[in-house]
Amino acid sequence: MDLQFTEEQQMMRTVVRDFAKAEIEPFIPRMEAGEFPREILKKMGELGLMGITVPEKYGGSDMDFVSYIIAIHELSKVSAVMGVILSVHTSVGTNPIMYFGNEEQKNRYLPKMASGEYLGAFCLTEPSAGSDAGSLKTKAVKKDDHYVLNGSKVFITNGGEADVYIVFASTDPSQGTYGITGFIVDMDTPGLIIGKDEEKMGLHGSRTVQLTFEDMKVPAENRLGEEGEGFKIAMANLDVGRIGIAAQALGIGEAALEAAAAYAKERVQFGKPIAANQGVGFKLADMATASEAARLLVYRAAQLRAEGKPCGKEASMAKLFASQTAMDNAIEAVQVFGGYGYTEDYPVERYFRDAKVTQIYEGTSEIQRIVISKHLTR
Ligand code: CAA
Repeated sequence: MDLQFTEEQQMMRTVVRDFAKAEIEPFIPRMEAGEFPREILKKMGELGLMGITVPEKYGGSDMDFVSYIIAIHELSKVSAVMGVILSVHTSVGTNPIMYFGNEEQKNRYLPKMASGEYLGAFCLTEPSAGSDAGSLKTKAVKKDDHYVLNGSKVFITNGGEADVYIVFASTDPSQGTYGITGFIVDMDTPGLIIGKDEEKMGLHGSRTVQLTFEDMKVPAENRLGEEGEGFKIAMANLDVGRIGIAAQALGIGEAALEAAAAYAKERVQFGKPIAANQGVGFKLADMATASEAARLLVYRAAQLRAEGKPCGKEASMAKLFASQTAMDNAIEAVQVFGGYGYTEDYPVERYFRDAKVTQIYEGTSEIQRIVISKHLTR
């Protein structure tokens, strides 16, 4: 497989790297203090990063999927928060409309989502329906020209900040996953109640909220696809979304490796840099080898997606491996830094806190193994 980036893709990498260094890195203390990076997102919109794969006719940058993954990867090397915000906005916020919306919905939402004026969120998970997403209990009842939704969602990334929510609810509970339907819900819809903003271990500055729908009236024209198609829409978008989270994990793992290698070269103990000890050098070697393997898996899945080929299995493999690598590298980076690694003076403790969730959201590592094994045995 050719992993050479095209000229356009290399340009994307340079633009995002420079932007992350100049604009995002100085903003990290504000995010760590809890501030949502609205002003960064505005600038990302101006750069065309909020609609990388959206066609030009809907106001997007009309670039290929690999370019999008490059953007998530490079952003996440500096800030995993920016990585997840963009990934959720694009893969599971914008893409459901782009791939499953009708022309009127695309014209109404895509230009604003691509410019960054609107931020997207994805509402599938519920208090009692996490890994078993198909058991969701939110109900949508059709009445005249609208649906009435009642229920609650949890762990909604971008929630409270987003302008557009892709919501999944059951229109026919007797049909199980075949009774689930998708809806596009505007932020200002009466009955949409933004609940608790979770206090998280990491990803400070990103929003993760609970949502409640109390007799929320959604116009029938905002239904996404047909009744009963919702679960397939959710799963299909998660297939692709998982490559984005894998790229986020890849970025965190590489950042941890780079920080550890740089520190090991300059930190002198017993009269020599600690990198000269095999105990440290071998850690770096293992971190680099895992990062390289993760990079190949992530870009292989991205390339398949860019070519329009099936990529569900490869996306899950990339997410499973890259998220494990992010966690392993972050743990080892803290170890290489020793006591300093445990302080907030160095970024490795942030990588450690941010890495963990990549093994949990958009399908836990256990769910990725289920998806991979289903592909192998069906
Ligand atoms: N694409 C299209 N259709 C799919 C599909 C896919 N990837 N996966 C399943 N389907 C279809 C199946 O084909 C099946 O239909 P048919 O019978 O007609 O073939 C139907 O959906 C039901 O499939 P399953 O029987 O396999 O469904 P299941 O209930 O056993 O669940 C699962 C499968 C893979 C475990 C799924 O529940 C799952 O992915 N769970 C994890 C949920 C998840 O990832 N949540 C993430 C929340 S979003 C998030 O985290 C965002 C964030 O904030 C960062």
